[in-house]
Amino acid sequence: MPTFRFIDPADVDAETLVVPTGAGAPAVDGLPDDVVAFAAGHSGKGSVVEVLPRPTQRPSTVLLVGIGAGDASGWRAAGAGLARSRSHTGAVTVRLPDDADVRAFAEGVLLGSYRFRLAPPKADGPPELTEVLLAGAPDEAALATARATAEATTLARDLTNMPSDEKTPAWFAERVSTTAAAYDGLTVSVREPDRLEAEGFGGILAVGGGSSRGPRLVELSWAPAEATQHVVLVGKGITFDTGGISIKPRDAMKLMRKDMGGAAAVVAATIAAAALRLPVRVTALAPLAENLVSGSAFRPGDIIRHYGGRTSESNNSDAEGRLVLADAMAYAVDQLAPDLLVDLATLTGANAVALGKRTAALYSENDGLAKALEDAAADAGEQVWRMPLPADYRDYLSSDLADLNSTSPEASAGSVMAALYLAEFTGPLRDRWAHIDMSAPSWADSDSAELTKGATGWGVRTLLSWLASL
Ligand code: BES
Ligand code: MN
Ligand code: ZN
Repeated sequence: MPTFRFIDPADVDAETLVVPTGAGAPAVDGLPDDVVAFAAGHSGKGSVVEVLPRPTQRPSTVLLVGIGAGDASGWRAAGAGLARSRSHTGAVTVRLPDDADVRAFAEGVLLGSYRFRLAPPKADGPPELTEVLLAGAPDEAALATARATAEATTLARDLTNMPSDEKTPAWFAERVSTTAAAYDGLTVSVREPDRLEAEGFGGILAVGGGSSRGPRLVELSWAPAEATQHVVLVGKGITFDTGGISIKPRDAMKLMRKDMGGAAAVVAATIAAAALRLPVRVTALAPLAENLVSGSAFRPGDIIRHYGGRTSESNNSDAEGRLVLADAMAYAVDQLAPDLLVDLATLTGANAVALGKRTAALYSENDGLAKALEDAAADAGEQVWRMPLPADYRDYLSSDLADLNSTSPEASAGSVMAALYLAEFTGPLRDRWAHIDMSAPSWADSDSAELTKGATGWGVRTLLSWLASL
């Protein structure tokens, strides 16, 4: 990850100078005429970079980076565009205008530099962008927030991109434990199968039962003394989803290592809350299991007894996420009694059917909470759209043998039905709960602005912005 340093604009003596540019004009004054003239031809579109070679002058190269409308998303895209176009340059100098969104720009540089690596880069490998000199008004706080946010997003992306041969539930739990150990005030507890059994986590055990690599429940806590509110974040952590006995077709299965993106986001956001020392108590719960096909896998039609005693008739083993979330949510409500409960999950393919590839589905019966999460997403540069929880659809989940069916044969609104199922496990927190189905935006098919192809770390930035607003 590149580092940043502020310098006095009067001291700029760069070989390569970066000039942020709006539609048809550079965002800073006092530039040489040829640069101003060249900028007039730039659309200003965020992340578009144009190069002006000036071989006989200094700076000998000027990079014009579009900032779009000059809002946070424009500056984020500009940072990412710069990082991509200079990925093989050691250092660059950026001439920042006074009204620059330093935080968004730095976030864009850091996130746009992201690459997933299975092994650390070699010392003698190709050069990378290592330092960005910012010629403009110093704002160290903006950089610190950008860095904590980008590091957390990078952690979530790394966890989600990791292939599932390595990424077992135990591996994920271990990664969380070692990462959290570096921060003062974070505590982690990991439940293994014996303890899950003893305490009645039947959903996690059923889903994890088909794998030789057993399930875990990670509980990560940030509890600052000054906190007046307690938030529990629950994230779906299926380290690979074959669909189980209700097996997925091959194309639908191939990316299912990403099915723990919710768990990655809640854990990373909690770590960042500690890094930023946010004055709110946060507990992240990550129910982790591998949904495989084997002689010990759970079957369609099995009756599952969740934490706290409610039962589900599991008529489709591919609807496994809600079963592990139900346990963790019931546990949160019973044992942690938080003020607010939010869960994130790559829960249904129907998320993308309803809203496309970049927008998560948000559910809540609490207008204030829904609005706060919508605002947080907008601030963070992530997209959510609020969806309904029609009370009468609950009937579709009724079961003859259990408290409820995990899926409904009649209803078609897949993402909505999954949300209604989860609502049954919120007890007295029902109107202080929000669910986010982020199946679709958890993955990017190509590089675009601050997103790098692959895992996006979706939700980390929204959660952090929301936690900071409490
Ligand atoms: N992990 C999937 C959902 C998913 C699909 C995430 C595509 C990301 C991309 C989930 O466990 C699942 O299989 N859901 C089923 C639910 C159905 C059986 C009611 C689905 O969406 O088909
Ligand atoms: Mn599934
Ligand atoms: Zn799944």
